Amino acid sequence: MKKVLVTGGAGYIGSHTVLSLLKDGYNVVVIDDLSNSSRESLTRVEALAQRKVEFIHASLLDYDKLCAAFTTHQFDSVIHFAGLKAVGESIEKPLEYYYTNLVSTLNLCQCMLKFSVNKLVFSSSATVYGQGASVPYTEDLPLGRAASPYGQTKVMIEQILQEIVASKTGLQVASLRYFNPIGADISGQIGEDPLGIPNNLMPFIAQVAVGKRDKLAIFGGDYPTEDGTCERDYIHVSDLAKGHIKALKWLGEQHHSLYEAFNLGTGTPYSVLGIVKAFIEYTGVDINFDIVKRRDGDLAAFWADSSKAKAILGWQCKYTLADMMKDTWRWQSNNPNGYPNV
Ligand code: NAD
Ligand code: WQD
Repeated sequence: MKKVLVTGGAGYIGSHTVLSLLKDGYNVVVIDDLSNSSRESLTRVEALAQRKVEFIHASLLDYDKLCAAFTTHQFDSVIHFAGLKAVGESIEKPLEYYYTNLVSTLNLCQCMLKFSVNKLVFSSSATVYGQGASVPYTEDLPLGRAASPYGQTKVMIEQILQEIVASKTGLQVASLRYFNPIGADISGQIGEDPLGIPNNLMPFIAQVAVGKRDKLAIFGGDYPTEDGTCERDYIHVSDLAKGHIKALKWLGEQHHSLYEAFNLGTGTPYSVLGIVKAFIEYTGVDINFDIVKRRDGDLAAFWADSSKAKAILGWQCKYTLADMMKDTWRWQSNNPNGYPNV
């Protein structure tokens, strides 16, 4: 059985991917500093999969602890989720974001090369296309200038990984550019559990629905879109998780240094109002909202062309918008306060 190191595996996308990996027969070692997650997510993943995960509580900034993981385990590949991800916070704390996201990735690459672990799946983002790119986004568009330090860390990491690959180190990288991941595992046992006030749309709606917040503020009703609110490509987190398995399998068939980026989205944009209406329709729970002024840095509309991931990785989305809404609600209503502090 192949052994995968999953950095940041206790987080939202990480925990869903670990569940998919375990179900697919992989052995999984997670390294996470729990700075934005709970150990409980992996306890639940283990219960769902009826298999164990080896957990290392450490930061990727701690090079010695990271190396120790590579000494203890013989990894076939690495999936790299770990990092800070709040766009607004990154504008307030650029140094912390550049330091954490870049140094974590550099440490990881050092260890991988030192221990001859060559296969890397990296969590990138649609934000790397920057502003003004034509839609739908295709992978042959150049890397842009992201609207935040957070986004810039993704641009920079993609560039760094490309240069390490070009230097013929043997590294093989699949950078997965996620669009807007939402939803939760169908069990309702694991899901998105943001600290404090949610920055993202779906967890905010879910917290309004469960009565933790009064009303949703919709940022901007005067965009050049059909209903005036921004449009995004929302993708079910379990489809996203599958994309990582497909990428690992594809990397497993490669024998030379390579760098490939893949968009992971559904290809269908929905507006903010469209999402609110879908949530109400598919869950039967009303959402109180106001339309307020625009949020700095938001683009009017973007969505993915994911035909490359389909053609090369054999990946396709299977979940519908209704699934995304119902699964979000199942998670939030079962766990109104997220994971318990255990
Ligand atoms: P998350 O915060 O839930 O998961 C990230 C995990 O990394 C957390 O468990 C956190 O504790 C851990 N972590 C942070 N810094 C660490 C460090 N230095 N060492 C070890 N662990 C560390 O976020 P997520 O939504 O699951 O995102 C996972 C990845 O996908 C991130 O790299 C994020 O930037 C990227 N991404 C997320 C989205 C999104 O909308 N959620 C979109 C595009 C890309
Ligand atoms: C979606 C839409 C908001 C909250 C961000 C990052 C991106 C990626 C995913 C990591 C927008 C509107 C939101 C609210 C609202 N992350 N909204 N009221 O901005 O598309 O992408 O997360 O890589 O890099 O930039 O996602 O969920 O924040 O917003 O009206 O309270 O919902 O204006 O139109 P976004 P989001």
